[in-house]
Amino acid sequence: MDIATVDELLSTTRAVRNRLDLDRPVGREVILECIRLAMQAPTASNAQDWRWLVVTDADKRAAIAEIYRGVGAEYLAYAAKEASDPQTRRVYAGALALTETLARVPVHVIPCLDNRIDNSNLLTAASAWASIIPAGWSFLLALRSRGLGSVWTTMHLAREREVAELLDIPDTATQAALFPVAYTIGTDFRPARRPPAETITYWDTWGHLVGER
Ligand SMILES: Cc1cc2nc3c(=O)[nH]c(=O)nc-3n(C[C@H](O)[C@H](O)[C@H](O)COP(=O)(O)O)c2cc1C
Repeated sequence: MDIATVDELLSTTRAVRNRLDLDRPVGREVILECIRLAMQAPTASNAQDWRWLVVTDADKRAAIAEIYRGVGAEYLAYAAKEASDPQTRRVYAGALALTETLARVPVHVIPCLDNRIDNSNLLTAASAWASIIPAGWSFLLALRSRGLGSVWTTMHLAREREVAELLDIPDTATQAALFPVAYTIGTDFRPARRPPAETITYWDTWGHLVGER
C-alpha cells in the first residue's frame, strides 16, 4: 500500500460544506462505485443490512432541505454567535450556511439500516449503529478519493418521520445520517488540528495516560 496516499486520505477527509460545487453534475456510476466500496465495511453477525437511499430529484431535495432548515437554522445561528472558540464558531457558521445551500447540493445520500435500532440495550444499539457507521465513513472516504466531498449530518433526524414519508422509508428501517454529496471546489484539504493522541490514550487502566508510563 502507498501509505502516504492512504494517510492523506484518512487525515484530510473533512466536513465539506462551503466548498461543495453546486453546479457540477454528479454521475450515478461514481455514487455506485463509492457504495460498492462502502459495502466492504463490517456489520454485526455479517448481517449486511445496509440500504442506501440516493436522492437526486430536485423537489425531494428541496423538501429535505426545508425539513433540515426547520430543525437547524435557528439553533445554528445562535450557536455561530455564541460559541466560545473561533474554530467552533466557524463550524456552526458553515453548518448554518449549509441549511441555505442544501437543496442545491446535487445528491443527497441517506445511509440506512434495514432494521429498527433498539436503543434501550447497549449491546444491540452499539452493534446496530456500528453496522452502518463504518460503511458511511468508507463512503465519505471513497468520495474524497474521487474528488467529491460531503459532511456527516444528523440534523434532519429530529424530524426523521417527515423525511421517511417523503421517501417511502418504512418504519422498519433506520436512517443513520444525511450526506450532501457534490464535487469539491479544489481538493487541497488539510489535516485538522487535534490534541496529541497521548493526551487521550489510556494504557491498561482508565486514566493511565500512555505518556506517563
Ligand atoms: C454524528 C455527527 C453528526 C453531525 N451532524 C452535523 C450536522 O447535522 N450538520 C453539519 O453541518 N455537520 C454535522 N457534523 C459534522 C461535524 O460538525 C464535523 O465533523 C466536525 O466539525 C469536525 O470537522 P471535520 O470533520 O472537518 O474534522 C456531524 C458530524 C458527526 C460525526
